[in-house]
Amino acid sequence: EQIKKGSYDHFMQKEIHEQPHSLTTTMRGRLKDGGVLLGGLKEHLKTIRRSRRVVFIGCGTSYNAALAARTFVEELTGIPVTMEVASDLLDRQGPIYREDTAVFVSQSGETADTLLALDYALENGALCVGITNTVGSTLSRRTHCGIHINAGCEIGVASTKAYTSQIVVMAMLALAIGSDQISTQPRREAIISGLSSLPGHASEVLKLDSEMKELASSLIDSESLLVFGRGYNYATALEGALKVKEVALMHSEGMFAGEMKHGPLALVDENLPIIVIATRDACFSKQQSVIQQLLSRKGRLIIMCSKGDASAVSPNGSCRVIEVPQVADCLQPVINIIPLQLLAYHLTVLRGFDVDQPRNLAKSVTTQ
Ligand code: AGP
Repeated sequence: EQIKKGSYDHFMQKEIHEQPHSLTTTMRGRLKDGGVLLGGLKEHLKTIRRSRRVVFIGCGTSYNAALAARTFVEELTGIPVTMEVASDLLDRQGPIYREDTAVFVSQSGETADTLLALDYALENGALCVGITNTVGSTLSRRTHCGIHINAGCEIGVASTKAYTSQIVVMAMLALAIGSDQISTQPRREAIISGLSSLPGHASEVLKLDSEMKELASSLIDSESLLVFGRGYNYATALEGALKVKEVALMHSEGMFAGEMKHGPLALVDENLPIIVIATRDACFSKQQSVIQQLLSRKGRLIIMCSKGDASAVSPNGSCRVIEVPQVADCLQPVINIIPLQLLAYHLTVLRGFDVDQPRNLAKSVTTQ
């Protein structure tokens, strides 16, 4: 086991640090001549383009990855996207139509809820696409077509490198579906060039490791941690909070920053740590005003911003700031999650909990 961990203490740590490599292998051979080549979808692209709706279905981190992709899939394809947590789709017996493309996202490809939702979508006649990290998994065998994320084996129960590779695969999926649209060509080219630069930016953001360890030591005794995001990075807030709760065993909630004044604001005081994700995108000025409102309630803020923006988000320097490299807005979630993965990892080690085998959890949830 130690050999497999190499120089790392835990698989989660190794898998976080592997991301420049896993992102590279996810894209290898797929970005060609200014376009995207996804062999597994070739024969189904026309049908997908004609769908009335794309339905993303998954659980946990895989659901969050799909949520991170939702906006750019809608933007690049023009097809409405709805989100389904697999168990909730089954509980509601929600509508799935023959004209739908149902996209199932699962690292293991063996999650019971996701597979039952797949059976349900197949029965209802939808075209079913699988996105998985596991070649030969039940998901990859039972779907009509799919894309492997090729992130390499993920052993830590907390999913890290699979999350970032899943988002990248969904970006390539959106680019492939939208490749017949002339109006979005400049945008597609910008995203393709952004994809190529992601591994380098992932290496850069990993240099925040010791800063995140230091931040973790300042949060070690906190009872709770809120994470506020919006737009592309609402999913980052959910996923960052999920990492903290599942491995560091600390209560944590990811929230829509736009919902803050509709309830969560009542929780704000000088003790509760709040991470605000305020990297540059169309929502930046809205996040600046959220920060102002939180500061006027004496909130204890940790702000994630784009490199060089520290004074724009914390004018009097009173907040702790995490500066990350700026990438194409829709790919920013791939970079922004990495410091939060590092934070969850260090919090877990400092709090003395089992990193790779968190209490009560299994890597693959094969029962309902
Ligand atoms: C992730 O850190 C969790 N362990 C969990 O939410 C996981 O993502 C979920 O169980 C889905 O697993 P899957 O991707 O293998 O389907």
